[in-house]
Amino acid sequence: MCGIVGILGKGPVAGALLEALKRLEYRGYDSAGIATLAEDGTALKRCRAEGKLANLEAALAKDPLPGRTGIGHTRWATHGAPSERNAHPHMSGPVSVVHNGIIENFSELRSALAAEGVAFESDTDTEVVAHLIARELARTESPTEAMRRALAHLKGAFALAVIFAGHEDLMIGVRNGPPLAIGHGEGEMYLGSDAIALAPFTNRITFLEDGDWAVLTRERVQIFDRSHRAVTRPLTRTTAAAHLVDKGNHRHFMAKEIHEQPEVIGHTLARYVDFGAKRVAFPDLGLDLARIRRVTISACGTAYYAGLVGKYWLERWAGLAVDIDIASEFRYREAPLEPGGLALFVSQSGETADTLAALHYARAQSQQIAAIVNVTESTIARAADCVLPTLAGPEIGVASTKAFTCQLAVLAALAIAAGKARGRIDEAQEQALVGALGEVPRHISSLLADESPYEAIAHDLAKASDVLYLGRGINYPIALEGALKLKELSYIHAEGYAAGELKHGPIALIEENLPIIVVAPGDALFEKTFANMQEVAARGGRIVLLSDRAPGELADAVAHHIAMPELLPFTIPLVYALPVQLLAYHTAVFMGTDVDQPRNLAKSVTVE
Ligand code: F6R
Repeated sequence: MCGIVGILGKGPVAGALLEALKRLEYRGYDSAGIATLAEDGTALKRCRAEGKLANLEAALAKDPLPGRTGIGHTRWATHGAPSERNAHPHMSGPVSVVHNGIIENFSELRSALAAEGVAFESDTDTEVVAHLIARELARTESPTEAMRRALAHLKGAFALAVIFAGHEDLMIGVRNGPPLAIGHGEGEMYLGSDAIALAPFTNRITFLEDGDWAVLTRERVQIFDRSHRAVTRPLTRTTAAAHLVDKGNHRHFMAKEIHEQPEVIGHTLARYVDFGAKRVAFPDLGLDLARIRRVTISACGTAYYAGLVGKYWLERWAGLAVDIDIASEFRYREAPLEPGGLALFVSQSGETADTLAALHYARAQSQQIAAIVNVTESTIARAADCVLPTLAGPEIGVASTKAFTCQLAVLAALAIAAGKARGRIDEAQEQALVGALGEVPRHISSLLADESPYEAIAHDLAKASDVLYLGRGINYPIALEGALKLKELSYIHAEGYAAGELKHGPIALIEENLPIIVVAPGDALFEKTFANMQEVAARGGRIVLLSDRAPGELADAVAHHIAMPELLPFTIPLVYALPVQLLAYHTAVFMGTDVDQPRNLAKSVTVE
């Protein structure tokens, strides 16, 4: 989603703004721009470009922007096509604005401003904000007062950074929904959509709370809440700044993140289990796992599929009743939730708008709120009663990989802890399950040692226009995740189906040009899935088999077999996530798509 950065610097800031925008690239964008205050802060200058930051960099090289005060933006189009004229910053007289989110009442505001004689030069909702602030500034001559008045007109979820010609030592930031962080430097001050953007400058960060707005000078920050009361917010030292955001020896962030999985899964598991004693060591977070009556899980996309695996685990191993829904549906479904239930939200970013809204709904229904998040400073983490962090480190590739498997790691540990608390798992079972979890990083490492089989399959998949993924039981969410990964990375249409549903419709699709990827570990349901494979083979379908079992009598129909290790069924989803990630990754590499920033996608979806 859009990225915001702002700098009140000691020297020229355009270069630093560009570097900070590069660190926000992972959020997804389609155009970018920078505005600075030149000529001793009296004149606004801007440079914008459609497409990648390299285009903005080239434009800046031709026409450099001077000035010690500036704002920058990567735009992910919502109102108006991705183009230079719609790219931020937007300007009106002495005001320049960058914006993340949506101004919901922008049409009314636009009509009202147009009636007052304002001429618009873009199709964006953001330009309305610039004109509103400029109008109020003309009336009050105080940027802070103008901002306060303008905010009263704006509806929606948005973050803003604003600079004012004639006020060289001033920048105003607003957080109403999407996150915004203040970075404290030495005689310098920063604004950024997240701490990663500000990492090269400072690790001293103040995260604005929802509804806050802040008036920054180089030496001072004043924060106001939604009611314009002066408030103080804690200054934290963030660890995000310590992470080096680079690709290492890998071609893509996604490859690096796939390869980090043995380490980060181990890391995450170690937070929740004691490998030495082979026991769960679930932190005391005030969750009464023995007494919970029902769990309601809600999340989006890949995080939802992690939650779906969690449902199978919690039902099977803890005997817990679990409901699950995608957050965009759950938030409007008006589901009655019995008090005393646990509502569990899964989110890498911790900022996904639908997941956050689902959380607020559950809160209003008197649920206890737990969140599995990768960003512990995020809005969802802060809104939860209890936070279960994934220790995946920053995930830069837009398509989630290591965050997904770390979410699974937390859910697996939670299922064991709940099973134990509810008397469904005895000590011997606990030891066996924790022991098996301990082997997951090794199994993934050995799969990563040779990626050539995936390259070969990728060449085949690249020729297909549609791909079907099948899985049964706990492997069904892995089939769904495999299909999602392939479509988002390679743009090949793919669908995941429960294998048992094959006969109820999708079997009509089967012909020799439709690759069918079957997630079929040798678990209790293998024979059933094998029967589905026979149905596919009988109709000339081409199978890619992910299994520890050999294809046997179906050898002719199985075009490719990824030989998986034999696993305790409990750990199957964690290990089988890997081949579906690698298939999507290598197909995308072979097809030459933008692996780390697939078209139209955003990393953190902070609007509905
Ligand atoms: C797919 C992917 C998305 C996210 C979804 C939720 O690869 O990354 O489907 O999983 O947008 O995002 P978070 O986990 O940040 O709430």
